[in-house]
Amino acid sequence: MLEGRRIVLGVSGGVSAYKSAYLARRLIERGAAVRTVMTAAANKFLGPQTLAAVTGVAPVTAFFGTEDESPHTNLAKWAEIVVIAPATASTISRIASGLSEDVLTATVLATTAPVLLAPAMHTEMWEHPATQRNIETLIDDGHRIVGPDTGALAGGDSGVGRLTEPEGIIEEIEGVFRGDLDGWRVLVTAGGTREAIDPVRFISNRSSGKMGTAVAAEAARRGATVTLVTTVPDLAAPGVEVVGVESAAQMAEAVWSRVQKIDVAVLAAAVADFRPADSREEKLRRSDGLPEVHLESTPDILAGLAAAEDRPFLVGFAAETGSLAGAVVKAKQKGVDLLIGNDVSKEGSGFGSDTNEVTLITPDGEQERWPLLSKTEVASRLWDHISSVRTLGGSH
Ligand code: PMT
Repeated sequence: MLEGRRIVLGVSGGVSAYKSAYLARRLIERGAAVRTVMTAAANKFLGPQTLAAVTGVAPVTAFFGTEDESPHTNLAKWAEIVVIAPATASTISRIASGLSEDVLTATVLATTAPVLLAPAMHTEMWEHPATQRNIETLIDDGHRIVGPDTGALAGGDSGVGRLTEPEGIIEEIEGVFRGDLDGWRVLVTAGGTREAIDPVRFISNRSSGKMGTAVAAEAARRGATVTLVTTVPDLAAPGVEVVGVESAAQMAEAVWSRVQKIDVAVLAAAVADFRPADSREEKLRRSDGLPEVHLESTPDILAGLAAAEDRPFLVGFAAETGSLAGAVVKAKQKGVDLLIGNDVSKEGSGFGSDTNEVTLITPDGEQERWPLLSKTEVASRLWDHISSVRTLGGSH
């Protein structure tokens, strides 16, 4: 779940700062990219070299004196989550007040990513009304708090105020990334298939795989378990299971063999409808004269899924040129729950571009047209839509 996630770890000055190095290591072991930022007091408890050695990147410790012209905003933009562990009473109070005189609190103020704080301090400091007020303010501001736990504290004391152990903090971080599609098993197809004429030539189409890849990435980002069956595996986002294929037959086999294990299938690949019936074992030679290439139909992957017992919620795409009338017919006849029509002859829409203009079409002909959007935005809205109709219908 943390594979490829970008995590900023803020360390403030408490005895438990040493645990942040272990936390950073555990996050990296789970595939996350970790950058760190330290307050001046944290530097007294834990040398920056330790975090640099564990993460491979020197921690940010000051606004000035580095080549980075704006370390706090750059960290803030990079982060998918900011985790402050340990968060001392002083750091909590500065964040609650919106202060930004040190680089850690400035990063928190500058980020739009979720912020998770793991407080650590003596019991009396934790229970002080001022700290409790600050914690309430942080929660009201949308920040998350983990701990503190009860146990041994600095100086031989014990009570509430102990930093939550790294595993507990990681569980909370995973909870933040667990999205509305948590528990969904999703399969997406992407890219144009290649149908061999001979070992060096093939019939294909203009699909870049961007649309399907974006649909898969967004589902994974929102917590689904995603398999992407694709002809362009290199594009796939982290956290997605990738099955690289080339031909329609390979794509069909990869999709159909997983039908029992998926809840939703989104078929965005441009699958060839025809392939050479007699793909040659050896390269065709010019000197042998003009070859005749006979075509035969490829397997209809969508039809196979639609006919399967206990089939998934099924979303097809339809590449049309000009009118979407053909897509309306496909929505009715292909056994899908939803069809996404796109006019691939329009500027910025369909093949290769980073944008797409799509129309949602239901089997009974209802249509919802969306404006030209980035493919990521199309993917995001598509999952909003699928998630609402699947919950309402509940049939799959
Ligand atoms: O990859 P990009 O460059 O980002 O471009 C995106 C896209 C234009 C390829 C995408 O948005 C799109 O429209 N994909 C479907 C293209 C297509 O094959 O349309 P179709 O109308 O021929 O097929 C209808 C549906 O049947 C599709 O879901 C297709 O995956 C499926 N199909 C088609 C043929 C076949 N043999 N088996 C299938 O399952």
